[in-house]
Amino acid sequence: MAKKEVSVPRQTINAQPHIHQRAGEMQAYGTVSHALPLDLEEPVRLEMTEQLNLLLADTMTLRDLYKKSHWQVAGPTFYQLHLLFDKHYGEQVEIVDEIAERIQLLGGVSLAMAADVAETTRIERPPRGREEVPVQISRLLDAHQIIIEHCRELAGRASELGDDGTNDLVVSDVLRPNELQVWFLSEHLVEAPLVRAEEPRARKAS
Ligand SMILES: [Fe+2]
Repeated sequence: MAKKEVSVPRQTINAQPHIHQRAGEMQAYGTVSHALPLDLEEPVRLEMTEQLNLLLADTMTLRDLYKKSHWQVAGPTFYQLHLLFDKHYGEQVEIVDEIAERIQLLGGVSLAMAADVAETTRIERPPRGREEVPVQISRLLDAHQIIIEHCRELAGRASELGDDGTNDLVVSDVLRPNELQVWFLSEHLVEAPLVRAEEPRARKAS
């Protein structure tokens, strides 16, 4: 006897991707997910993620200030500063990622987009146009100073609250690289003779 064909209901298969989708947020900015096995209470993680987001906004702004300086630098030190600014930019890119991922790890939500960063940062907004090298470097140093001050405060508070991971990140991965970059920048604002040494008397008079 011929076998009877059984018809299996089949889902409609469609190769069309489901694009233009939107839905409500999974987690609101400024909150932390509740029960994480980190042995850190929710209020601690709330305070730390809030502070880390401030540090993130300032670090993203400094990162972009380095790229602006890298592109717009002019003058006899163009080559060395063009390279130095980009090296520091690359280091700040890594710092941004470390801070953002620490926030997520603590159950928070990281700032990400330029408009949100612009609303949050404490670093002064530079003009769109080009500025002289000493002004570029001064702006970068001012930005570093804001970040370094905040790092010292935040590292102390993290220790106080028992968040050693945040303390370690802030000191080792943010504070120390920022201090090093400050040294490299500030040496460019020392008025040192380029070709001929000055007589001590002439130096005193100026
Ligand atoms: Fe470049």
